[in-house]
Amino acid sequence: MGDTAKFELGGKSVDLPVLKGTDGPAVIDIRKLYAEADVFTYDPGFTSTASCESKITFIDGDKGVLLHRGYPIDQLAERSSFLEVCYLLLHGELPSASQFSEFEHNITYHTMVHEQFDRFFQGFRRDAHPMAIMVGAVGAMSAFYHDSTDINDPEQRMISAHRLIAKMPTIAARAFKYSRGQPFVYPRNELSYAENFLKMCFSVPAEDWKPNPVLTRAMDRIFILHADHEQNASTSTVRLAGSSGANPFACIAAGIASLWGPKHGGANEEALNMLGEIGSVDRIPEFVQGVKDRRYLLMGFGHRVYKNYDPRAKVMQQTCHEVLEAVGHQDDPLLKVAMELEKIALSDEFFIERKLYPNVDFYSGITLRALGFPAEMFTVLFALARTVGWIAQWKEMIEDPSQKIGRPRQIYTGAPERAYTPIDKR
Ligand code: CMC
Repeated sequence: MGDTAKFELGGKSVDLPVLKGTDGPAVIDIRKLYAEADVFTYDPGFTSTASCESKITFIDGDKGVLLHRGYPIDQLAERSSFLEVCYLLLHGELPSASQFSEFEHNITYHTMVHEQFDRFFQGFRRDAHPMAIMVGAVGAMSAFYHDSTDINDPEQRMISAHRLIAKMPTIAARAFKYSRGQPFVYPRNELSYAENFLKMCFSVPAEDWKPNPVLTRAMDRIFILHADHEQNASTSTVRLAGSSGANPFACIAAGIASLWGPKHGGANEEALNMLGEIGSVDRIPEFVQGVKDRRYLLMGFGHRVYKNYDPRAKVMQQTCHEVLEAVGHQDDPLLKVAMELEKIALSDEFFIERKLYPNVDFYSGITLRALGFPAEMFTVLFALARTVGWIAQWKEMIEDPSQKIGRPRQIYTGAPERAYTPIDKR
């Protein structure tokens, strides 16, 4: 017999099972609470609610730990590759050499999009935000790949997972090229996932494009750092959309929409804009005062779960230095501002008291800019990398026998029932 928690209210008493996971706080299973005690729980923002059981990713926010299928993120970022991490997230184990080469082949040979799909981009204004294009284009994939939208067929589920991971770089690069007015670049099967993406973004027909191994590795590592992050807003959106039985392409489009916001994936763009607005180290004290006066947030700082250094931020900071060195931007003034801002914030009582540390987005903007991406592409890159996490979580949910359509309740504080009055009597 496991532990139980006793709930008592208005003379009713309910014993609620306490469930323990591999790690992390125990959870009280309240599924029978409404039926037996006639009450709901109230938890806006889900700060105390576990919405599902998952075997994919574990975060210990107090210790600054992030594990994918048990493997620490810093080890994966250092020693693995994005495609290997994709396999791990989807299948639960690291692949053998033959499993990996089959997986790599499946992804590589799904990177092209239907030729008709390319015409879709022409409907957008050239100045459209690439995230707007991503939401539309990824949603439109369900109109092109009907043969993998039967969510009850495990093989179709896996094919749609492969298609999403494979085609996301092609779609993201097209969104970028479209905004530049440059021709689309087709994927090349001999290139690695990250190299292919960089080529589709930065090569032009007028000259040869030469890969830079430091930048390719940095791109791959950035993808690894963003691959999954348990039940955040966008992942929960994907699960909620998928709980109704919607097809995976539509669910991932919903996740992209949720990711776009400045408190989530949009923070990397905001963080870089913020560093640009500060501009120089001497303006930091004035800026920090504005944060303390609650006039604005320090973007790239703080996290709902991490109350210690975000382990992804440590890797990102190192990657940032490597990339800046590789492109000869070691003296980037924004890097100086970021490093000094971090130093001041980490020693200031306001931030210490609130346990505000740099998150993954603090250094990612500077890094991505040095790789050649404009700020509006940053969240697109996040979406590209997070697609594997979303689809792995979606698959896990579909395959979970206890899965039900997501349907939260509410505390209603509106008008009580009243009779309709005709307009001439109001
Ligand atoms: N700058 C200044 N103050 C902050 C910040 C910040 N970035 N983040 C939180 N606080 C303060 C907040 O005002 C509150 O103060 P008080 O207790 O005095 O009212 C306290 O810290 C607790 O904050 P909270 O709003 O209750 O925390 P939350 O868990 O609801 O929000 C967050 C988490 C990430 C939305 C928030 O920290 C934030 O908006 N950060 C800036 C945006 C950002 O960098 N987001 C990227 C997150 S990591 C990538 C991703 O997963 O998308």
